Amino acid sequence: MSVQGRSGALANRIVKRVEAMKALDGIADAVAGVVQRVTAPDELKSLLSGTFLGHALHPVLTDLPVGFWTSAVLLDIVGGDDDAVDVLLAAGNVSALATAATGLADWSDSYGPPRRAGLVHAALNGGALLAFSTALAVRRAGARRTGTGIALAGSAFATLSAYLGGDLVYHRGLGVDHSGFESDSAVGTWTDAAADTEVSATPRRVVVKDVPIMLVRDGDEVRALVATCVHAGGPLDEGQVADGMVTCPWHGSRFSLKDGSVSRGPAALPQPALQTRRRKGRIEVRSA
Ligand code: FES
Repeated sequence: MSVQGRSGALANRIVKRVEAMKALDGIADAVAGVVQRVTAPDELKSLLSGTFLGHALHPVLTDLPVGFWTSAVLLDIVGGDDDAVDVLLAAGNVSALATAATGLADWSDSYGPPRRAGLVHAALNGGALLAFSTALAVRRAGARRTGTGIALAGSAFATLSAYLGGDLVYHRGLGVDHSGFESDSAVGTWTDAAADTEVSATPRRVVVKDVPIMLVRDGDEVRALVATCVHAGGPLDEGQVADGMVTCPWHGSRFSLKDGSVSRGPAALPQPALQTRRRKGRIEVRSA
């Protein structure tokens, strides 16, 4: 057996099965469509995506329900104060709702296998929330030992869900920087990109030192952004340009042409922007 071990291989097989279940597409697409409509307003999308934070919000919030629930279960097992256990369960349940809202917003922009796995991830989290809510209710009704058993079942749901969530990030790349991890730094010195006359108000894609770059004229200035959207790799050079901003054609993230800052999610990170200068009728670029 390899270093990965039997349990790791089994878990990978199960995840692959889930990702290949096309039967999930109907419900996944319907739910994602509803979530996309509900989260369409710019402010709400940016809030749920973590754009205001400069960091995806969902992975920040997931620590809350997991931490509260785990603490409640452990405190209960070691015979801790019953009221304290109930408070922790309630805090976990409430924070799970906010965490679910951010997760659904992120997931609604996924497609194919990650969308299927994300649906199962959400269903397992729903199972965890249901179990911990039931545990709290039966504990408050006096059946504390029954509540302990139900809470343990909730922990099992949450653990399986966390595995799938980790796979979505580390294997499928949901939420990671798709612009190439500071790929613009490859253009560390002034490098020729295009003739000045070739750059207009319509974005143009050029490749400089293997880095795809979007060039566009913005008034008297020529702006340059890495052309691969940080959110999920969309082609920014095919996006709409207006008011000093470019809107990604895939999920509508909006970036400043000047410095790449985000004014509308789902992107949470700024788009890498490059410096530009004119030299003898040519446009040169350099990483900022
Ligand atoms: S790829 Fe999703 S907003 Fe650009």
